[in-house]
Amino acid sequence: MSVNVKTVPTTPYEGQKPGTSGLRKRVKVFQQENYTENFVQATLQAIPEPGGAKGATLVIGGDGRYYIPEALQIIAKLSAGAGVSKLIVGQNGILSTPAASNLIRKFKATGGILLTASHNPGGPNNDFGIKYNVSNGGPAPESVTNKIYEITKTIKELYIADIPKVDFTTIGSTKVGDMTIDVIDSTEDYVQLMKSIFDFDALREFFKSNPNYRILFDGMNGVTGPYGYHLFVKELGLPESSVMNFKPLADFGGGHPDPNLTYAHDLVERVEKEGIDFGAASDGDGDRNMIIGKGAFVTPSDSVAIIAHYAKAAIPYFQKNGVNGLARSMPTSQAIDLVAKQQGLEHFEVPTGWKFFGNLMDAGRCSICGEESFGTGSDHIREKDGLWAVIAWLSIIAYANKQKLATSVHDILQLHYKQYGRNFFSRYDYEEVESKGANEMVERLQGQIKSGELKGKTFGNFKIAFVDDFEYNDPIDKSVSSNQGVRIVFEDGSRVIIRLSGTGSQGATVRLYVEKYSNNAAEYDADTQKALKPLIDQALAISQLKEFTGRDTPTVIT
Ligand code: G6P
Ligand code: ZN
Repeated sequence: MSVNVKTVPTTPYEGQKPGTSGLRKRVKVFQQENYTENFVQATLQAIPEPGGAKGATLVIGGDGRYYIPEALQIIAKLSAGAGVSKLIVGQNGILSTPAASNLIRKFKATGGILLTASHNPGGPNNDFGIKYNVSNGGPAPESVTNKIYEITKTIKELYIADIPKVDFTTIGSTKVGDMTIDVIDSTEDYVQLMKSIFDFDALREFFKSNPNYRILFDGMNGVTGPYGYHLFVKELGLPESSVMNFKPLADFGGGHPDPNLTYAHDLVERVEKEGIDFGAASDGDGDRNMIIGKGAFVTPSDSVAIIAHYAKAAIPYFQKNGVNGLARSMPTSQAIDLVAKQQGLEHFEVPTGWKFFGNLMDAGRCSICGEESFGTGSDHIREKDGLWAVIAWLSIIAYANKQKLATSVHDILQLHYKQYGRNFFSRYDYEEVESKGANEMVERLQGQIKSGELKGKTFGNFKIAFVDDFEYNDPIDKSVSSNQGVRIVFEDGSRVIIRLSGTGSQGATVRLYVEKYSNNAAEYDADTQKALKPLIDQALAISQLKEFTGRDTPTVIT
């Protein structure tokens, strides 16, 4: 039975250029007449050949934010109009980004439309987002996002199928015209995936033999609540008090669903006050994570290094598939490099952005990777994966406890530092500074790199070994990414990195990353900010950040 497809005239909107994280705008922008329709149709028309949208299978879901119900109806109408053969949709439109990546791979779908603005606040006055992922489960490459953008600039007609309102609240399969809509359980396939990666029996055994060990997972009222509930309460049998903020809310309860010490302060406070052993949080769409313990914060840079260190011992997936290389983004600390060297593994330094890992993974050269921006993951999917990182950490704890190595997060960190030394790391963010000053600051540094004037100079106790503007030559597709951030590397291996954020929405965000290595055991328990203070002072002097931005203090320190 074919449906009636109406041709509706439309006019282009400016600025529908998706980044690798999709198109993110205020809800009110998406609510303008045909704004969402134009972008969704452009996305469908940009689906790569062979095949395109006609006959395609698409995975659809999002992080539970405001406007998802409306967007789902629009996607159904335009998909049917474009001849899509099947939509696989999470119940109530709920799918975390990693869960969607898994479904695309598992069902060999053509791609997926993810309705999320990640960790940005939601609700009628905040953000909405639409992101297209391709058949490997990862974000669309620039060739696709550029095509979407080109189409949005000239779009004249919409092809809207005349179908009744679709019920996305009930699990089951329905047909509208020639298109099948499968509404599926949002968490089931993802939980199965986690059970195929980790040893859940070992985890249950750990909690059984350590009945006083308490964990607390904060879903931040984003999408991971139901996943966390399913994994920790239903599968591992932990009490419901092990999860907080686990109901996805359209406005994330008014919060900012980004797992760091600033925005996840409720979790941090409870862990300290109630003496909880292990705390973790994930962001709005479930790809980021933060790991803490009583009196311990695991920097994402250390987290990925520690996961890599224990991978083969504690995680069945890596026992089976091996660990074929490690990777980090350039500003991420070099802790993981030290693990790679010790294990004789290939390791990569890529620009900020998860897409660079995907190429390496598809080529079988990277198994575990991470970014300082609270992203950790592996080649089980092509997105970073918050809950995967949390279960990886619980697996490490269970293993280390069984081996009588350590049980607390603090002791696991210390054990790691004893073996590898400690890479002190911190990031200072200066949000919403004037673009002019920020650009001039970077241009000045770029000029100094060209002239070679910084080389060999000493600032405080730090002598510069080299400076450059990071350039990445992708070993797989041979693409070259230039100007990825100013690197100032000192003779003792310490680094200062300065770059402008690619994800800010207002003005410019300057990111200043500082890293200092120590193999002096007396320093391993030191406070990060204290340990880094001398280097931060020099970073501010070299960059003249205060002079160019007018800012005395950062907006956020992580
Ligand atoms: C997103 C991307 C990450 C990136 C982070 C910060 O989460 O998926 O790959 O590290 O944003 O990017 P930025 O350009 O703002 O530093
Ligand atoms: Zn996210």
